[in-house]
Amino acid sequence: FYLGIDLGTSAVKCILVGEDGSVRGSRSAEYPLLTPHPGWAEQHPQDWWEASVRAIRELLADTGVRGEEVRGIGLSGQMHGSVFLDADRNVVRPALLWCDQRTAAQCEWIEETIGRERLGRLTGNRALTGFTAPKIVWLRDKEPECYARTAHLLLPKDYVRMKLTGELGMDVADASGTLLLDVGKRAWSREVAEAIGIPMSWLPPLFESNDIAGRLLPEAAERTGLAARTPVVAGGGDQACGAVGVGVVRNGIASVALGTSGVVFVHDDSYQADPLLRLHSFCHGVPGRWHRMGVMLSAGGAFQWWKNRFGYEELERAAAEGRDVYDCLTELAASAPPGSEGLLFLPYLTGERTPHPDPLARGGFVGLNVRHDKAHLTRAVLEGITFGLRDSLELIKESGIAITELRVNGGGARSPFWRQMIADIFGYPVVTVNSTDGPAYGAAVMAASGVLGRSIESLCGEWIKTVDRTEPNEANRAAYEPYYEVYRCLYPALRDSFR
Ligand code: XUL
Repeated sequence: FYLGIDLGTSAVKCILVGEDGSVRGSRSAEYPLLTPHPGWAEQHPQDWWEASVRAIRELLADTGVRGEEVRGIGLSGQMHGSVFLDADRNVVRPALLWCDQRTAAQCEWIEETIGRERLGRLTGNRALTGFTAPKIVWLRDKEPECYARTAHLLLPKDYVRMKLTGELGMDVADASGTLLLDVGKRAWSREVAEAIGIPMSWLPPLFESNDIAGRLLPEAAERTGLAARTPVVAGGGDQACGAVGVGVVRNGIASVALGTSGVVFVHDDSYQADPLLRLHSFCHGVPGRWHRMGVMLSAGGAFQWWKNRFGYEELERAAAEGRDVYDCLTELAASAPPGSEGLLFLPYLTGERTPHPDPLARGGFVGLNVRHDKAHLTRAVLEGITFGLRDSLELIKESGIAITELRVNGGGARSPFWRQMIADIFGYPVVTVNSTDGPAYGAAVMAASGVLGRSIESLCGEWIKTVDRTEPNEANRAAYEPYYEVYRCLYPALRDSFR
């Protein structure tokens, strides 16, 4: 078996994958998200470790798999979060997460100091509030004592790997989101680090995702129930792992990940940054390959907000009928026509990244009239999220990457209604695959690849199969098009009112 660990924002999910690629079992454990100020998001790295230990132990107990039967471990994790460690590898302060928006001033400073064009040339990316380097600059500006004590920087899942193996390390896929990596060369960028004054000594050794980055320590083996010296591969950020987990490992295949955030991701055999830096250009979890992606901060998150705040009746109905509340909500949405009779929803509830890198962007309903009811509003929420994702797709298309297939994954992919909406708004067939465990599955594939010495592409080809294909409905497609055109004009028109 191969153990895939995905360290998410609300929980860690661990799965065991057999030698034939089938999933034997899965177990999650949650931890709190701290928001000490509006726009801040932090977690205690120690909570990640304790939850991982709990989930692994319970997974082994549930499945009856013995520790010695696990031949390799792979890690996936929420990207960009800053884990600051002192010289003794103790955590200096809680980690700032990918969704933390406090670093707008530091991003501006980085782009002014290095120059946006030069930064793009060196890293393939812009300084965005979620990325790691601005968090380090924030620490230096605002908590100089913590900064002075820091000796090592890790990303979230690398902290768990360090607890498992005792080794410091980072894979190039996740490191791409630090803004300190020369993404084209798959190496740390000394030029960027020196320009903004970040010590190179803080940056750990780099690996490809399927490289064995350490072996399980006896104390970690005792706590988790796994066997000492089990190989642990470097793994990757959750987007790269999620893409591997649905087989997005060759040119032409793109994916849409519908989690809290929403991501349109496309594989790239060669490195090419977006000249205007609107998409993220990152190393893929496949050695020597890259990818580009657009990241929307509130996709499933916006639908979850709608459910939590306004879905009382559906919650009650779901409980009474033993159904999923999201199914009740999409059923309601389906009773309104495509385009929601002119009602548009802006999904920027927590600011936005692609295509509007703006922590101050906000959401809204536009175009309400007296005919609109809850069905229209619910449909408009889903359409607004999907229009926002289409913005990323358009940037990918503009960059000249040809897409032949779109694979959807994440919680939102379970809804046939939403899949049809994506096919109609994107104008591509939407495919689902047999692996539905997302980034944890990709991490297990990376572990198998490292241990067996087989390529990630060949394992994906063998293990991951298409199960469902949704074709665009031409009438719906034509109905959505004018609404998408209006949607695109809304953020530029409203931008100043968010300030
Ligand atoms: C990717 C990103 C998010 C987090 C979510 O750039 O910020 O997808 O990794 O976990």
